[in-house]
Amino acid sequence: MFETLEEINQVVKNCKKCKLCNTRKNTVFGTGNPNNGIMFIGEGPGADEDSIGEPFVGKAGKLMNQAFLGLGIKREEVYITNIVKCRPPNNRNPEKEEAFACMDYLRNQVILIKPKIIVLLGNVALKNILGEEYGITKARGKWIEKKGILYMPTFHPAALLRNENLKIDFWNDLKEVKAKADIFLNSNDIYK
Ligand code: URA
Repeated sequence: MFETLEEINQVVKNCKKCKLCNTRKNTVFGTGNPNNGIMFIGEGPGADEDSIGEPFVGKAGKLMNQAFLGLGIKREEVYITNIVKCRPPNNRNPEKEEAFACMDYLRNQVILIKPKIIVLLGNVALKNILGEEYGITKARGKWIEKKGILYMPTFHPAALLRNENLKIDFWNDLKEVKAKADIFLNSNDIYK
């Protein structure tokens, strides 16, 4: 257990707990404001994220940015990270062992950030955090409370690139998040 996010990040940079370390260019730890009580958790870095070392900077991230912009959520005021901190080759899903090896880092991030709201982006995030019994199509759009944290599962933005029809649900789910954040956090920080 580390006391600061920067300490975890330094360990992640040198991590060799799974084979993803052999093919990564950069680790992708997380960005944004860790003090506003909202986390977004994706699956794992893609090629763009691997090159730059930041989450959601590629096509999927740009789509998410558009939704943030439309809803008045400032990207830099939420905290964004992933289940695995290194890119799975060819954008495959992280394997069970890879997600397991990386989970202590995410757990430590959550302990330090103390989020009130966690948005789970897609099936990989949903299943690894809330359990294999969940599926995104059924679970999306409904709040799930566990140990004082409110989880909102929604589609992964990459899914919207493949199927435009999912955009409305994604948008509505994030609208829910914004409304809940307003009530819970009682702060204007994440808004314009
Ligand atoms: N997809 C993810 O799940 N995470 C990223 O950081 C980028 C794309």
